[in-house]
Amino acid sequence: MSLSTREYIESILGKVNWDFSKASAGAFAPSNIALSKYWGKRDKALNLPFTDSVSISLGNLGAVTNVKNTQEDNDVVFLNDIEVDRNNPFYIRLVKFLDLCRPGDDFKFSIDTVSNIPVGAGIASSACGFAALTKALNEFFSWGLSNEKLSMLARLGSGSAARSMWDGFVYWHAGNSNDGKDCYAELMPYEWPEIRVGLILIETGPKIISSTDAMNRCVATSKFYSDWPKVCNVVLREVCSAIESKDFEKLGYFSEHSATKMHEMIRASVPSIDYSTIKTYDAIERILGMRRNGHNVYFTQDAGPNIKVLYMKEEQNNLLKEFPEMVTTTPFKSSR
Ligand code: PMV
Repeated sequence: MSLSTREYIESILGKVNWDFSKASAGAFAPSNIALSKYWGKRDKALNLPFTDSVSISLGNLGAVTNVKNTQEDNDVVFLNDIEVDRNNPFYIRLVKFLDLCRPGDDFKFSIDTVSNIPVGAGIASSACGFAALTKALNEFFSWGLSNEKLSMLARLGSGSAARSMWDGFVYWHAGNSNDGKDCYAELMPYEWPEIRVGLILIETGPKIISSTDAMNRCVATSKFYSDWPKVCNVVLREVCSAIESKDFEKLGYFSEHSATKMHEMIRASVPSIDYSTIKTYDAIERILGMRRNGHNVYFTQDAGPNIKVLYMKEEQNNLLKEFPEMVTTTPFKSSR
């Protein structure tokens, strides 16, 4: 049976105790980059994906969100210390999510989010934002929910937020059931402290089209979409086995393949969508060039023009010579 969003929330929050004694609470969540991508929703209201996916976190890059109650008539939202206008799409999206977690209609929130990554540039800023907000709400009301359960809440704000509850490698199960109760993320029990992710920022402005709109158009019109679950099955298997056996070349190869296939499929949407700019193609060509010269560096790209590089720490100086502007991140706490 398919559940309404309200019923789904009830199934998670209906069982917890609500505590109102805290004046405020805050939490950090890292951004994440999918190595095996998700693209397409089997349920748009519950944000249930068609396929499983695997991500790596971006270490210290992410969002810190503080939650408190306010006596104002409406929710108040601050993003990077600037109050967000009530007509802004970001405000509307956030309030829609808060409506699901509100103890009563009269209860208004003051939300303060500080993100150290560019917002809306396809670097999963909404993922870490909704994950940090969900963790902060859990603290604020002392719900005592596990990160797996919180991933099921965060997912309603932004699909990939489900994977931003932890550092390191995370597996997001698409699940099969219509009620969304078997769709959750979990931490993969593998540490790989030598791995790095670099960000090559090509544009920091908003995306040409939101990932949700692009997914819907792609699922409905791209002639390659019917092959996507098969591509994902292969990539998921190989990415997981590469993580388990610490085979970096295999991990890089299949992560790159997942991104390339996803963008090929998105470009085949009608009308076509291309998230890449000339600078994106140039950065990809330079990474492939480095590889031809024997460097073990691989790219990936989400719903935006920016490029992320997967590499082992010994390649960092070579990469920084080629891309001096690259931002470096360490996905595992043990290497920070
Ligand atoms: O988080 P969403 O639902 O906006 O989707 C993002 C999808 C990609 O970043 C392109 C891929 C992924 O698995 O994160």
